[in-house]
Amino acid sequence: MNIEKTVESMTLKEKISFCTGKDFWNTKKLPRLMVDNVKMSDGPHGLRCQGENTDMLGINKSFPATCFPTAVTAGATWNRELYAAEGRAIGLEASAAGVSVVLGPGCNIKRNPLCGRSFEYISEDPFLSGYMAAAFIEGVQSVEGVSACVKHFAVNSQEYKRQSSDSMLDERALREIYLAPFEIAVKEGKAHTVMCSYNKINGVYASDNRWLLTDVLRKEWGFCGAVITDWGALNDRIKAFEAGCDLNMPGGSKYMHKATERAVKRGELDEKYINESVSRILALSERGQNIKREPFDAESHHALARKIAEQGAVLLKNKENILPLNEPDAVIIGRMAADPRYQGSGSSHINPTKLTSLAEAMPNSLCLPCGDEQGNISESEIEAAVAAARSHRIAVVAVGLPEFYESEAFDRQHLRLPKDHNLLVERVADANENTVVVLFGGGAMELPWADKVKAILYMGLSGQGGGEAAADLLTGRACPSGKLTESWPLNYSDVISADTFGQKNPEYRESMFVGYRYYSTANIVVRYPFGYGLSYTSFEYGDMKIDDRKVSVTVKNAGERRGAEVVQLYIAPPKDGIFRPRRELKGFERVELDAGESRTVSFVLDDRSFAVWQDGWIVPSGVYGIEIGSSSEDIRARAEIEVSGETVETPESLRDTVYETLSGKPTREDWGKLMGCSVPIESAKKKGEYDLSSTICEMKDGSLFMKLVYKATELFLLARYGGKKARIDPTYRMMLISVTHNPIRSLEICSGGALNGFLSRLIVRLANLI
Ligand code: BGC
Repeated sequence: MNIEKTVESMTLKEKISFCTGKDFWNTKKLPRLMVDNVKMSDGPHGLRCQGENTDMLGINKSFPATCFPTAVTAGATWNRELYAAEGRAIGLEASAAGVSVVLGPGCNIKRNPLCGRSFEYISEDPFLSGYMAAAFIEGVQSVEGVSACVKHFAVNSQEYKRQSSDSMLDERALREIYLAPFEIAVKEGKAHTVMCSYNKINGVYASDNRWLLTDVLRKEWGFCGAVITDWGALNDRIKAFEAGCDLNMPGGSKYMHKATERAVKRGELDEKYINESVSRILALSERGQNIKREPFDAESHHALARKIAEQGAVLLKNKENILPLNEPDAVIIGRMAADPRYQGSGSSHINPTKLTSLAEAMPNSLCLPCGDEQGNISESEIEAAVAAARSHRIAVVAVGLPEFYESEAFDRQHLRLPKDHNLLVERVADANENTVVVLFGGGAMELPWADKVKAILYMGLSGQGGGEAAADLLTGRACPSGKLTESWPLNYSDVISADTFGQKNPEYRESMFVGYRYYSTANIVVRYPFGYGLSYTSFEYGDMKIDDRKVSVTVKNAGERRGAEVVQLYIAPPKDGIFRPRRELKGFERVELDAGESRTVSFVLDDRSFAVWQDGWIVPSGVYGIEIGSSSEDIRARAEIEVSGETVETPESLRDTVYETLSGKPTREDWGKLMGCSVPIESAKKKGEYDLSSTICEMKDGSLFMKLVYKATELFLLARYGGKKARIDPTYRMMLISVTHNPIRSLEICSGGALNGFLSRLIVRLANLI
């Protein structure tokens, strides 16, 4: 296709319309110009390709596809090749379904373990998130005609009011933590598309943000693909064209088409921006023409999903080597053993090609499922579990986070398991000293009974092959090798952002001190550190060699069986320069070794490995520690190198503040010094001030009309999802929040034309009057 000529032969109206999709998943076709549609589908751990009944929250069934482990588990493999293989498999399934854009991976930072979508993100660390995402993208895009879409750009680390929140943070945190994974995904993974997030960043919506989408993404990082909005994330079409935001999704609405046309005609918007966006969508459509539509091999994809689950499961504890176990010796207790929690709720929800539970995968062990979907377990069920535990040598208890605890659209309310799950573990552990816990769930949890049980195997959300993988690991057919990609605090109150997470406009007061960057610098003891995970074998680290910027270390499998270790390289910056975390991950490599085998692992560092952001990347000079660890708190080899760069000191205004001392958590005042201004607290809009960016939830506080709209929405959804009991159904909660916390303009976009501009404005008008 001659893109330039095609753009020239389109009318202004046609071009504006072309930049809004046709329906939920497709761009528009232009038969006159022989331009085909682009078909998109979620998502990050499997293909959610829908037929007739489409939605953005994974409510209606999609065609069967392999449900791979979600990013919390896949990330814990630290295995780039394997994650690339997953990407490729999803790419092949996409190609078979005629889909040319896969909406994933998600590489937002796990800022706080309560984020409802943590299960879909890779890590609290930008380096790990970025390189794993890049591998996934390479895998997806290795399939002819298929593109990946890295999301949600940017600083979208909470679900609460995600469509209207303003993530407020300093430039170092922005560059060193939150943008960094996207930078790697774009530069190394060469993602063809990027999805901009719903939220604002320091006051500007991502879709309107020229600095983000053009200055940084395109000019600095060299991205030349298309920017697609998250579904309903477009704020102002005119500003978005200027910003470099190309495609408004979902399609079907005519949101701001006329206003955009007027703006061009009046000379307020340069048509060149529209032409650029059209060109980028045409290029995407052209690339998509090459998909092959060949059927995929479901069995081999299932085997791959199982392998990823096996490598991503993390052995958190194994006292007296209670594991591996002998199947007939064990009784398996708990609902999740028979009815597995294997994926999260929301847009990434997959209809698996098959599913095997832990109980099915361990047919020689007695299984005693107990409890309901909400996590309640009756006293008689607990008593039966205790009796079964007494009569077996080993008791395996499967517990975790119920589905309604975590989801897209809302955050977790606390870090605890259901109280009956805790009770079950405690009572079983009292009855049988050989208690093993298998944990399911999308992120860190408080484990009050951790000292009472002998072993804990964390499966995360391990996809359709998770049951088989757990069985292989428990019985020793496989050797655990996963490592945590986020720190597990002892208590939620230890999290540095505990008090500021989940605000309407989250204040990222902790700056770059996220996860282990905080705990290790502030000497806070955690339950399990970042990078941690046990094995059935053990590894010895030999001497480390540094030759200029090349670091090598020899690792030996000192145990009696084959196993894998993830070798982690951290830099420890000099203490006398600008404030920085004690250590930061700058390299990782998973090595699989036979018993007795040794291998030398090498890493090459570059300037960026040492750099901080100060209006640009600057290398502070000084003596840096180079640390090789088995986790962020288990450093096995250490050496120093002298790095020459520039003198970078903590700015005068931040000397001796919490950012230098890390004693306590940053207050609003400390944060004001970091931001260089005192950040105003946005007051809620009152009746008379509502606009298209207001949400039903915000307006219901001042408007009787909106109170009624809210109530009607609630009743309608309750009726649809089965009455009062639906209140704990994640789908109901997700729907209610998605409708009532969504700006009116976004509802217009998502309605596919049912709600037009006139009606949206009328609704806002009525809210302002009544
Ligand atoms: C989610 C995206 C997803 C899109 C389409 C949005 O609600 O945030 O991750 O790709 O829906 O389903």
